[in-house]
Amino acid sequence: MNPTTTGEANTTVAALVRDIAASLRTQRGALLPILHAVQGVLGHVPPEAIPVLADELNLSRADVHGVVSFYHDFRTEPAGRATVRVCRAEACQAVGAGGLVSHLRDRYGVSMGETSRDGSLTAEQVFCLGNCALGPAAQVNGRLHGRLDEDRLSSIIEKAISQ
Ligand code: FES
Repeated sequence: MNPTTTGEANTTVAALVRDIAASLRTQRGALLPILHAVQGVLGHVPPEAIPVLADELNLSRADVHGVVSFYHDFRTEPAGRATVRVCRAEACQAVGAGGLVSHLRDRYGVSMGETSRDGSLTAEQVFCLGNCALGPAAQVNGRLHGRLDEDRLSSIIEKAISQ
């Protein structure tokens, strides 16, 4: 991306973030719904959104950055074509969630919180998906799967990546 294109993209992001902030700023605790809305539209909360939100909400950049980095639901980089969220809570850990995490690292080169170099897969950890009796559990692109093993998880991921 050349500097002009980058500048235009930043202007577009800033305008979009200002529009979202304007539509939600009257809500109580407006920062969180605004951040969710920004991520809903852009797929992530880009760094250039931080100063815009600070300005719009009369907060410091550190305040906004602190919230974005505190909540694991917010990502600051685009996600891969597929996102897998592996449950690491106790019931799933007891029946093999750790093996799924190792498998993701070995097969796709992603640790929790990372996106593969080819941009195909983002891996995240969550703590309970409400599917404890059918662990180990994971979500792939928002869809819940239970009783997973490495092969089944891979097959679900491959399908999600290819869609
Ligand atoms: S512990 Fe994994 S779904 Fe509840």
